[in-house]
Order: sequence, then C-alpha cells, then structure tokens
Amino acid sequence: MKILLLCSGGDAPGMNRFVYDIFKEFGNETYFALAGFDGLVNNRIYPLKKVVKEDFKDKSGVIIKTSRCPEFKEKKFFKAGLENAKKFDCVIICGGNGSERGAKELFESGANTLFVPGTIDNDVEDNFYSIGFSTAVKECVYAVENVMPSMESMTRSCLFEVMGRECDAICVKAGKLVGADYVAKDQIDYEKMTDVILKKYEKGQSAKILIRENLEDIEKIARKLNKMLGLDIVKYHIVGRTQRGGTPTKDELEMADKFAAETIKAIKNNKTGRVLADKNMKVRICDFK
Ligand code: F6P
Repeated sequence: MKILLLCSGGDAPGMNRFVYDIFKEFGNETYFALAGFDGLVNNRIYPLKKVVKEDFKDKSGVIIKTSRCPEFKEKKFFKAGLENAKKFDCVIICGGNGSERGAKELFESGANTLFVPGTIDNDVEDNFYSIGFSTAVKECVYAVENVMPSMESMTRSCLFEVMGRECDAICVKAGKLVGADYVAKDQIDYEKMTDVILKKYEKGQSAKILIRENLEDIEKIARKLNKMLGLDIVKYHIVGRTQRGGTPTKDELEMADKFAAETIKAIKNNKTGRVLADKNMKVRICDFK
C-alpha cells in the first residue's frame, strides 16, 4: 500500500498530530507532498520517515509544510498533480474548503482521495469541527484576557480583530467565552458600537468588542469611533497568526486523533470521500458532494 499525505492552505494546530497518527499506522508506506498541492504538482514527494521526528506531534505548525497553490486550478498544473496522485493507493488532503475542491476534482479524475478538514476557520460545509478551531479560539480568548486588564486600568475600550477569513465561527465562539460586549460578525455597525462603548465609559468601564477580519480596516474603525465619540478611548488589537501558532489544546489533539482513526479505517476499507465531524463530534466518512 502507498499512501500520500498533503496539507494545504493555512496551517492549523493539530495537523502535526494527524500526520503523526497516519505515520504511526502506515510507517514506511507513507509519503508526503511538500507544501501541499505545490509539491504534488512539482514532484516534491518524499517518504514521510525523512521528516518525522520524536517531538513534533503535539506542536503547532506542520512538518510536511503547507501553502496556497492557486496554479492548481490551471489545467496544465492539475494534470501534473493528477498523474502523481494516481501513483498512490490513497491521497489524504488536509485543509479548508479550497483544498476540499482540489480533493474532489482529483477524485473525479480518477485518484483515490480522502479529504480531512484542517483549518482554524471551521468553514467546511456539513462539518462541525475542523482541526485547528479549538486552538484558534483559545488563542483569541487569551488575547482578550491579556489585553483587557490594561484597557480597564485606563478606562479604554478595545476592538479585537479575529481571524476566520469570511467565516465568523472563531469570533462568535470566542466572543461567548469572553463575554464580549459586542461581536461584529458580518458588518460594522458604528451606531451600535459607540452606544456600547459610551455606556461602559460612563460607568468607568471598558468594552471588549470582537470584529471578524476582512470587514473594514481595524485602524480606521477605531479612528472613526473615537471621532464619533469625541474622545480618544478606543484602541485595537489584531489577534492574527497567534491563532494558528498557538500550542494545540487537549481537545484539538483528541479531535486530530479521531480524524486520523476514521481516515485509517477508510483507507483499510478502500473508501474515498470526506472525513467529517458531526455536531456530537463523532467523525465519519461521507461521499464527495
Ligand atoms: O485560512 C486560515 C487563515 O488563517 C484565515 O483565517 C486568514 O484569513 C488567512 O488564513 C491568512 O492567510 P495567510 O497567513 O496566508 O495570510
């Protein structure tokens, strides 16, 4: 049996544990494409044992590297990737919704692919948990908890820019956990935000506001709010890539193990498709849509 593993898109904490579990099961039968579809297209495919070390499995990042590979959509590159994919009994692709499209297209062109959700954004359709989400939420909570004492000491309010691309999942979950005064999921409501901030300020308190990235420039939002308030009390903090680089939580590692166990089962039963988590965090294999 020859198994190929690749990670694609932004790295996600927990990916290393998933890689380790697959290696532990299949050992020398396991290969990886360096930095995702890019390695698949450009023949950078190596035995996994070359990079596996003792101490990587509980760390964030991913030892087989990942990347964004827009060229994969072009016929010429896709064909080169497909040829390589077909040399394996199974190709495991771990990433977000863009990577899922790649996995599906390879499958429809004759390669045996399995897609596993690995993205902090938790934006894969029909899937309730993707590898990376728990850690990203934890890092976001840490950021708010670490910044707010300083804000409170100076009676300032803070806007936190939270990663997630177009998906509000991290923002909403972290917002609940920190008891945010306001969460901007899909639009910036200046009237609402000034109201929330002013009410807190009048009581000598500070508002914590979580804002999903890619809505508006965070610096401009803060400047506009200060102008509307006629005060200089609104600061901002970009949580950013600490959400990807944070140490994986226990839940994360447990979920990565569950995804790996189902993937291993699927390979042994010659199955292809999407390995997804349901709302009870049970992981199962489904056909490509
Ligand atoms: O998809 C994961 C993610 O971290 C998004 O939340 C974010 O918008 C994007 O990747 C950032 O990507 P990059 O690190 O390539 O700029």
